[in-house]
Amino acid sequence: NWTTHNVVEEQIAAIREQVGEKRAICGLSGGVDSAVAAALVQKAIGDQLTCVYVDHGLMRKGESEQVEKDFVAATGVQLKVVDAQERFLAALAGVSDPETKRKIIGREFIRVFEQAQAEIVAEAPDDHPVAFLVQGTLYPDIVESGGGTGTANIKSHHNVGGLPDDIEFELVEPLRQLFKDEVRMVGSELGLPDEIVHRQPFPGPGLGIRIVGEVTRDRLDLLREADAIAREELTAAGLDREIWQCPVVLLADVRSVGVQGDGRTYGHPIVLRPVSSEDAMTADWTRMPYEVLARISTRITNEVPDVNRVVLDVTSKPPGTIEWE
Ligand code: XMP
Repeated sequence: NWTTHNVVEEQIAAIREQVGEKRAICGLSGGVDSAVAAALVQKAIGDQLTCVYVDHGLMRKGESEQVEKDFVAATGVQLKVVDAQERFLAALAGVSDPETKRKIIGREFIRVFEQAQAEIVAEAPDDHPVAFLVQGTLYPDIVESGGGTGTANIKSHHNVGGLPDDIEFELVEPLRQLFKDEVRMVGSELGLPDEIVHRQPFPGPGLGIRIVGEVTRDRLDLLREADAIAREELTAAGLDREIWQCPVVLLADVRSVGVQGDGRTYGHPIVLRPVSSEDAMTADWTRMPYEVLARISTRITNEVPDVNRVVLDVTSKPPGTIEWE
């Protein structure tokens, strides 16, 4: 008999059993999954857990501040912040292929964690080794990465398929039997605030897989602005709970002709991908109000340099995936 309370109690016992006296680290991505996983493990083993927030420069606007302030305030976890922006940009330079990007981002993530681990060990107040890595892997992540019921590998999920072979940690994955809505219930049960629990899903590889083409600093800045505008307008329109998530995608390798003021423009399109879903395994494109779409479109083309067109993705999943890469 499944209740959120039972799941929390069972997981806390299982985590204590698995980790023992050793230490664990957990990467916070800014998303619901890693936040709930971290809160659960924090509840189980307290200060034996240190959270690591890797600022890979692929985050959305305001997201780093949200992790560094709101999450810490809600849970009291020990947090170590690593600024790895240059490192990720360098590793991604010249790469356009989606799977290669995912693998690079997953690999760099682990490398940065290993470095953080060494630092945490060096600073540890006792002799217990840092032997565990906490991940917010969900059931659908496992199925879609080919680890579940024998489905084909669709995408290398950053927290499953993208791990290098020489990983040094044992994994703690307390959410691996849960779907997203269950994870949210667990988060609420743990006392996390609504802004964290009801945050829309955001992929581990971040904006890196929402730029179709090479990832560069300028393109990230541009996409971050467009994404912030879309999120602001969706929130203002009260659509946050109705829409499962709305990826905002920059088609960096595409240009189209436009006219603005009295001049010709030759800029990039931004794609809006609002979807409705229960668990991200399947999704439908959200029939959202035209006025909201119009406001987002007007603001993005006016406020974001080099973007002269906004298009709407009206594909369900399948055949389209939610993310474009
Ligand atoms: P797709 O694009 O496969 O996405 O339909 C399904 C859901 O998973 C999210 N997503 C990810 N989440 N690491 C994650 O933690 C990843 O590498 C990743 N890729 C996609 C996506 O945003 C959607 O909610």
